Amino acid sequence: MNQLTNAQIHHVIVLPWQEASSVASSANNWTAIPTQAIASAATSNVSAWNDRQKGSCEMTPRPTHILRHEHRVIEQAMRALEGMCLKLRTGDNVPVESLVQMLDFIRNFADRFHHTREEDYLFPALELTDLAEGGAIVFLREEHQLERELLAELDMAIQEYRFAGADAVPRLTGVADQFCKHLIGHMQKEDSLLFRLTEEMLEDAEKIALMHNLSTESEAFGQTLIQKYERLAAELENDWAF
Ligand SMILES: [Fe+2]
Ligand SMILES: [Fe+2]
Repeated sequence: MNQLTNAQIHHVIVLPWQEASSVASSANNWTAIPTQAIASAATSNVSAWNDRQKGSCEMTPRPTHILRHEHRVIEQAMRALEGMCLKLRTGDNVPVESLVQMLDFIRNFADRFHHTREEDYLFPALELTDLAEGGAIVFLREEHQLERELLAELDMAIQEYRFAGADAVPRLTGVADQFCKHLIGHMQKEDSLLFRLTEEMLEDAEKIALMHNLSTESEAFGQTLIQKYERLAAELENDWAF
């Protein structure tokens, strides 16, 4: 593995992430990357890895491609959530059913599927590298925990909106904005730094093991369910994003 000093890790990872958090909290500066392009890269990567296992192809395993693809799917839902908030603030009606669909997507796809696989496989692999000493993984685990607390608040705000209607809109949009900015900022840090360092710092054998574990957990979650949530994110974006 490449060796970094603790000072380098703190300077290169933790400080930029803290700065990125403050920028993300003051502005929505994230941009979409074509979902299909990432999906296709992830699929071809897994196929190539399978080919390599059969001895028919040589390439570097890229376990973060599949996680990057999931980020693009989650971004579709976050664009929809932003659109819902805009509608609510301008006095338009947003059906509770649509907000409940959003909650279902975040709880199951973003948290139970995506975050859990990062916590169970990506983070432990990186905790064996210099990244752990710089505090980066602890920082990211704490961000996942904060997301879960914000998700619980969002759930309560949606229930209030169900019964109180317009009176509950300021709290609902405030919590939804906070959740959205936090999650987008978190994914930006992973995309721009963590995933790149994962590819650079892990040995090929470790990356292959990570890909295998991520794929196995995807199968356990179920391809049908994954496709259902990918369709839901696309539909929510189509219906609500501005
Ligand atoms: Fe994460
Ligand atoms: Fe992530």
